[in-house]
Amino acid sequence: MKNNTKHVLSVTDLSAEEIDVILKDAIRLKKTPLSDDLKGHFLALIFEKPSLRTRVSFEVAIQEQGGCSLILPPTAIQMGEREAIKDVAAYLSGNVTAATLRVFDHQTLVKFAEYATIPIINALSDVEHPCQALADVMTVLQHKSSLEGKRLLFIGDGNNVCHSLLLAGALTGLSVTVACPEGYEPSDDILAKAREIGAKRGAEFVVTNNPAEGAKNADAIYTDVWASMGQEDETIARKKIFQPFQLNSELLANAPDAIVMHCLPAHRGEEITDEVIDGPQSVVFDQAENRRHAQKALLRFLLMD
Ligand code: CP
Ligand code: NVA
Repeated sequence: MKNNTKHVLSVTDLSAEEIDVILKDAIRLKKTPLSDDLKGHFLALIFEKPSLRTRVSFEVAIQEQGGCSLILPPTAIQMGEREAIKDVAAYLSGNVTAATLRVFDHQTLVKFAEYATIPIINALSDVEHPCQALADVMTVLQHKSSLEGKRLLFIGDGNNVCHSLLLAGALTGLSVTVACPEGYEPSDDILAKAREIGAKRGAEFVVTNNPAEGAKNADAIYTDVWASMGQEDETIARKKIFQPFQLNSELLANAPDAIVMHCLPAHRGEEITDEVIDGPQSVVFDQAENRRHAQKALLRFLLMD
């Protein structure tokens, strides 16, 4: 059952022009949140891992547009165990109008989307977090007035959140430097893709093992947890490896005009200090609020004629 339904599994499932439309609508929706434009739409939210922001932002977003949401926790579906991924995709396609999936293995999303005839949105996988990246570029745009010519330092693990930021930067002209310990670099494929796409807009993508170097002249400094969901057994080892990559006042002194970003949840005292996350440069709660506006704009883009 192949079909041409638009899915957003990666940031690159959207073009630069489409992201531009979504960002403009998100900024409008931040001021004017309510309408009935998605009345009759039903959004299923499938979670294999915990969530606060993704759940709240999608549920409130669709309901503020007159639609409904359904939460499907792992115990409810047991996808791939109680029944095949393709059967869940086929069933939901006949009964709701869109679905978001938070999965451990990106291939679960790919397989689900292959058999779905409704739009499927990646709500975080091991490879990407595109909804986060939409809110992130929206946040930089609102706080720094533009994306082209600006530079963001991502400090930490070069995995899902970092990958989507690289790709969103490439599509919007935002340069991204990644400062990470050796062995925790972003995937070569994603970096190559970001460089290829970003070259059209003059955006540059650099990987360094020196966070202070990356912080100089940064317009935004962004961090994420050292051990992602599913990596809990590596927590102790990672604390030691990532300690030199903590976002603290000493590092931030290199970038007095940078905004401080974090996708949340934050592990205070690990990847970011209280002083920095609660300090005057932090925009983390505006960034988290922007998830709702950006995803609402994404839902409107995918579901409205
Ligand atoms: N940033 C983010 O996706 O938050 P949740 O894990 O709480 O959804
Ligand atoms: N990298 C983190 C992001 C959480 C929103 C994780 O995968 O747990």
